Amino acid sequence: MAESMRGLKRTCRCAELGKENIGQTVTVMGWVQKSRNKGGIVFVDLRDRSGIIQLIFEESSVGSEGFGKAAKLRSEFVAAVTGEVAARSGAVNENLATGEIEIVARDIRILSESETPPFPIEENSRTKDDLRLKYRYLDLRRPDLQRNLMLRSEVTSQVRQFLAGEGFLEIETPALNKSTPEGARDYLVPSRVHPGSFYALPQSPQLFKQLLMCSGYDRYFQVARCFRDEDLRADRQPEFTQIDMELSFVDEEDVMDVNERLLQRIFRLIGVEIELPLPRLTWQEAMDRFGSDKPDTRFGMELRDVTELVRSCGFGVFTGAIENGGSVRGIRAEGQGSMPRKKIDKLVDFAKDFGAKGLAYLCINEDGSYKSSFAKFMTEEELEALVREMEGRPGDLLLFAADKNKVVWDVLGNLRLELAEQMDLLDKNRYQFLWVTEFPLLEYNDELGRYQAMHHPFTMPVEEDLPYLDSDPGRVRARAYDIVLNGTELGGGSVRIHQNDIQEKMFEALGFTKESAYSQFGFLLNAFKYGVPPHAGLAYGLDRLIMLMAKEDSIRDVIAFPKVKDASCLMTEAPGTVDPSQLEELGIGILKGGEE
Ligand code: AMO
Ligand code: AMP
Repeated sequence: MAESMRGLKRTCRCAELGKENIGQTVTVMGWVQKSRNKGGIVFVDLRDRSGIIQLIFEESSVGSEGFGKAAKLRSEFVAAVTGEVAARSGAVNENLATGEIEIVARDIRILSESETPPFPIEENSRTKDDLRLKYRYLDLRRPDLQRNLMLRSEVTSQVRQFLAGEGFLEIETPALNKSTPEGARDYLVPSRVHPGSFYALPQSPQLFKQLLMCSGYDRYFQVARCFRDEDLRADRQPEFTQIDMELSFVDEEDVMDVNERLLQRIFRLIGVEIELPLPRLTWQEAMDRFGSDKPDTRFGMELRDVTELVRSCGFGVFTGAIENGGSVRGIRAEGQGSMPRKKIDKLVDFAKDFGAKGLAYLCINEDGSYKSSFAKFMTEEELEALVREMEGRPGDLLLFAADKNKVVWDVLGNLRLELAEQMDLLDKNRYQFLWVTEFPLLEYNDELGRYQAMHHPFTMPVEEDLPYLDSDPGRVRARAYDIVLNGTELGGGSVRIHQNDIQEKMFEALGFTKESAYSQFGFLLNAFKYGVPPHAGLAYGLDRLIMLMAKEDSIRDVIAFPKVKDASCLMTEAPGTVDPSQLEELGIGILKGGEE
């Protein structure tokens, strides 16, 4: 039978006590981590979100009724205990913040009993993910998750304080919107009042924040929930949170400046001092050097373009790719020259997963001789020149990809990360930030047979590239910037188009007719007719930011109630079917078995 806590007040959290509290009478409330009954004495570890404290129950201090209750305590029972803080009677526990003290119980109430939990509540749980997520409310009791969520709360609180201090206003934008397909698929919400019509949940507050600039709010931010129906990955959830901002009368320098200082402030929470200004790379440089628009710069292993060197060599794979307008590039894995053939074959398969037709390798043996998949196609001089260009040394492994630039970058960029992982070069305690700038404005989509905005259609082109918008759209650079941390895209933004003529040209380049542009984005285009300030902004993925700060591998570990790969929630079992009457009210019929 659970007891009432009437008349009792918690005086502090369990691990908020220390040696300085010895002699004080306190009341703590929490969950039983474990209890040991040693005959005349019961030891209990009591846990709350602050940590653990040891309680001691002896009949002489807690009375016979109290002792009886203490003896009944099991894992995850909730108890309130009043007692006196004392120095540990037994050995000091070095692993516990409160290891030097204990509470000698004088009174105990069992506030709630617990069934045996399906898995132990402990740090670094080895319980299977699915079970953890089914019982997420128990999983969330684990100290590592509690630390993550406390960090998350602290970060958002600092963000709010910092941005308020910089003159930003926190303004909410609607969650029920008109569908304006951007990058990902929308989540749709049927309207009861307008049968056959749907709201879309926001993929981001982009259009609204630009309208707020038109309305004169000049510095806006929001901790905004966003929804994207896209394939899940370790750093992607169908609903996630952005720290979203927009500023008027600014250019990219102002946005970067305020955000660098924001990041500096936040990272101090985990004892990391970021040096400003942060490094910058253009998109072109990032691709050429790292094969990625979100390079991990914690290690080198940069790509080298050897196209010119091998243009007329005897290896048909290389020359063929070059003749087709492609390039040949390589990376050097230092000290990996003795990698067994089987492991190299795995790298070849890995490369093929990213679209490579193959991967050419060359091991430089310690005696300077080569073991290579293509040496026989090249002269001694050609090989030597290649090794020299790659700065290859005895013991190194050189890997080459020959294909269209896009494939070569993707293959080597990912191979570089894979090798770094294998070579243990990814130190989670290092934080390497960088801005990637001057992204291409448009990207050709083979499936659609037209250009698509790489960021979104409201991104301002670099002025000197404007003439190419008609003649050579792929060449136009955008005034867009991404903030990258350890190979993760933390956030992105851009200077926006605020001139109607440029915006119309942009829609034209994207294949919109004037009518279709107005039917989708009319409210924005109309707003732009009434005086619009130059503006720019940026949004962070808050989940990704916390994941990196907490040194976790998945954003699931920094979200209280995340979804799994098929976008379902294992705890609530959402999404679920609904009552036929609900569907009827909405005017919705379900095609049998979800058929098209
Ligand atoms: P973008 O689409 O780049 O920009 O999104 C901004 C940041 O949001 C995070 N993010 C995600 N995090 C978790 N799960 C997802 N599915 C997911 N998708 C995106 C990333 C990303 O960098 N409106 C623009 C911003 C702007 O231009 O101001 C936008 O949404 O960290
Ligand atoms: P092949 O002549 O097809 O036997 O290929 C010789 C070597 O070149 C093998 O090691 C292949 O894996 C490699 N190779 C094939 N295609 C490519 C490519 N596009 N880029 C780099 N290496 C390749």
